[in-house]
Amino acid sequence: MNVLIAYGTTEGQTRKIAERMARDVSERGHSVELHDALKSDAHLDLEKFHAFVLAGSVHQEQHQKVIKNFATAHSKRLNAIPAAFVSVSLSAALEETRPEAQSYVDRFVSLTGWQPRMTLLLGGALRFAEYDYFQEQVVKFIVMRRGLASEDGADHEFTDWNALDRFVDEFLERAKA
Ligand SMILES: Cc1cc2nc3c(=O)[nH]c(=O)nc-3n(C[C@H](O)[C@H](O)[C@H](O)COP(=O)(O)O)c2cc1C
Repeated sequence: MNVLIAYGTTEGQTRKIAERMARDVSERGHSVELHDALKSDAHLDLEKFHAFVLAGSVHQEQHQKVIKNFATAHSKRLNAIPAAFVSVSLSAALEETRPEAQSYVDRFVSLTGWQPRMTLLLGGALRFAEYDYFQEQVVKFIVMRRGLASEDGADHEFTDWNALDRFVDEFLERAKA
């Protein structure tokens, strides 16, 4: 299969996640193209892909504008092929805040008109070196509100890599079928 993985990232964690998925897909014998949604998609011919994954992260309760635009622009094609959405946030890292993570996805789906056949809510990361003062305050507030470990300003990765690998496997199985 030809698989397209498009992603939007602000501090880099979703790029890392998209790269891991691309590695998984290629290790399972498929061809894969990775696309940063910040770049022009004029060269992308979506018709040549058999399966598609879009990954984006949440900032102030919203996914990146670039991935919203991408999903909206291509919703017709994406609704026609096996297509999955990976939503990266801090809310996804804790059982009690997963409904919040799901609500970001619900809003994304209603805005874009794309109905992903599979969705993964995946924990992101704290990268304090990447934040300006305002972002740092926002993140500290989120971390405190959610009772996540890193209130001390230390970086931390909440991404469950095994869950991601399992998700990719399941997605490829379903897409092949
Ligand atoms: C300024 C800022 C606002 C954020 N807002 C939210 C939020 O509203 N809800 C949430 O669950 N996570 C929030 N996060 C956490 C990010 O989703 C998380 O850090 C993710 O790993 C970012 O992915 P990226 O590095 O690919 O951009 C926020 C992070 C920052 C820096």
